[in-house]
Amino acid sequence: MTVITCIDDLKQLHRKRTPKMFYDYCESGSYTEQTFRENVSDFSQIRLRQKVAVDMAGRSTATTMAGQEVALPVALAPVGLLGMQRADGEIKAARAAAKFGVPFTLSTMSICSIEDVAAHSPDPFWFQLYVMRDEDFVDAIIERAKRAKCSALVLTLDLQILGQRHKDLKNGLSAPPKLTLPNLVNMALKTRWGLEMLGTKRRFFGNIVGHAKGVKDASSLFSWTAEQFDPCLDWSKIARIRDQWGGKFILKGVLDAEDARVAADFGADAIIVSNHGGRQLDGALSAIRMLPEIVQAVGDKTEVWLDSGIRSGQDILKALALGAKGTMAGRAYVYGLGAMGEAGVTRALEVMQKELDISMALCGEKRVQDLGRDNLLLPKGFLNNYS
Ligand SMILES: Cc1cc2nc3c(=O)[nH]c(=O)nc-3n(C[C@H](O)[C@H](O)[C@H](O)COP(=O)(O)O)c2cc1C
Repeated sequence: MTVITCIDDLKQLHRKRTPKMFYDYCESGSYTEQTFRENVSDFSQIRLRQKVAVDMAGRSTATTMAGQEVALPVALAPVGLLGMQRADGEIKAARAAAKFGVPFTLSTMSICSIEDVAAHSPDPFWFQLYVMRDEDFVDAIIERAKRAKCSALVLTLDLQILGQRHKDLKNGLSAPPKLTLPNLVNMALKTRWGLEMLGTKRRFFGNIVGHAKGVKDASSLFSWTAEQFDPCLDWSKIARIRDQWGGKFILKGVLDAEDARVAADFGADAIIVSNHGGRQLDGALSAIRMLPEIVQAVGDKTEVWLDSGIRSGQDILKALALGAKGTMAGRAYVYGLGAMGEAGVTRALEVMQKELDISMALCGEKRVQDLGRDNLLLPKGFLNNYS
């Protein structure tokens, strides 16, 4: 059996075991993929400050995110089509997260529906909302998330128009996959994936089919989703959704200090600094580079979290040391899911927790809450190289 020691091991297995169309869907950014690459490479420019002769007994990676206790300051980010990376993927990821003690965020564009995940997950999860033109659909899905006892609403702000990912167009990405000859040949080589897929009925967008007006089958689904992201989303609509939800409210996809100030005044329980993992505005700066400026702009009005580029416990450490109160990870756990199903998501979390714990100890810190700028060494100009 392969010994998994780091997230990259899971990525290699994910690539081997999942049809190309879905691996590529995960492992891509928009246009030139500059932002996608820099989300990761900018982390590696930040160095850690070693400290010795510090009592490091009794360490803990536990903290809270928006008032919720977490074993590790990481929430599983909303990822569409998880159920295509592995059969019943959303249920597997939600279970792994609940057992580990971190939040799972279910995407609007999930394969398993809100109700289905609620029926199979031991703990409440968070629901991520994309605002669609069809207001009845939006109203209804908010009510469905309430009925399913979702414990927070994560509203994504950076995808009202879809960034172009070349690979998805070339592969003809769809759920379920189109049965073209190259796709059939490729899928035939992924035996475990195929057998598990044959054993499940969950192969469409479960939150949409049967819930959105006129969407009953695959072809109506495609035309509906292509037209539905609401280009008119503005702060007044965001306020309406916040009030309708009435519970914990998290804004995802802020990458600018001015936007962050407005978002903080909106009474959000947390703001997530994110560029959607480099999938939207190619050419935007990495999330980690934008983080300190946004933390400063927001002050203590609300929590700021970092999303985009997390591939290790050391990345989590760096984000917290630059002022984030928590993080979200997307691909890091999707690699685990594609590699080994629920056990792979658990393994991804274990790997990152151990990396965080050991690195924290070697930096002379015992609690994630104590991490700060003093634990880092930044190259000159890292924070204000761009204006
Ligand atoms: C395959 C894939 C699908 C995604 N789908 C969604 C989604 O449905 N909703 C959403 O808010 N973000 C979505 N995201 C963005 C993630 O929530 C998160 O912001 C991103 O993965 C963070 O970057 P990282 O993968 O480097 O951790 C998706 C990301 C990936 C990789």
